[in-house]
Amino acid sequence: MSIRTNYEKWYEGEDYYWGTEPGGFLDELIKLCPYTPGKSVLDIGCGEGKDAVYMAEKGYSVTAFDLTENGVKKTLKLAESSGVEVEAYVDDINDFAMDKQFDIVYSTGTVQYLFEENKKEFFRKLEEITKPDGIVYINVFVEKSFLELPPDWDIEEKMWKSGELFTYFADWKFERIDEVIFEDNSGGIPHYHCMDTIICRKVKA
Ligand SMILES: C[S@@+](CC[C@H](N)C(=O)[O-])C[C@H]1O[C@@H](n2cnc3c(N)ncnc32)[C@H](O)[C@@H]1O
Repeated sequence: MSIRTNYEKWYEGEDYYWGTEPGGFLDELIKLCPYTPGKSVLDIGCGEGKDAVYMAEKGYSVTAFDLTENGVKKTLKLAESSGVEVEAYVDDINDFAMDKQFDIVYSTGTVQYLFEENKKEFFRKLEEITKPDGIVYINVFVEKSFLELPPDWDIEEKMWKSGELFTYFADWKFERIDEVIFEDNSGGIPHYHCMDTIICRKVKA
């Protein structure tokens, strides 16, 4: 079977490649969009589910997808062992279909897998599936001429231009944007990444 992302292999086995500790950014999102009954979350590129499960534990109704079958299986397993429900399934960020709206939509480490020709439509869809006053969080690796490509760069993964992410949200209220360079040791070889992050709110005009 040909695979489109190395994560299909990296997620094999019992261990959690990314661990099970949720991303620190989630508490920031919860502050900006506190839980009340019925609030919903979409996790795009959920990996093995650590963030989706955390949000379900906080009470949100969580939908999550990833391209990998192994990631989705482990998301469902982690949800079950944590005593929460997550609606998780296999889908592709390039052409996913969604007919409902969410209070919080986030995607971490995954929009690099959007093909260039699908970017515009992806962000149009994102606007459509975010509720008024809802929050979107996205981060993406960006290229810098002084940084080398990371050694564990994936099949189909594409660096973005610095600042490009922010241009898709010109009509949103920026809650936080930043660009950070940090050291990483994934794959056993120390290297650097540059990451752009946006947290923004869909404000009705
Ligand atoms: C850096 S990992 C981040 C996973 C997760 N968000 C986390 O923080 O643990 C990138 C994820 O993107 C997924 N992915 C790769 N290509 C994809 C695609 N075309 N559509 C959806 N997910 C994809 C991979 O399987 C992987 O789980």
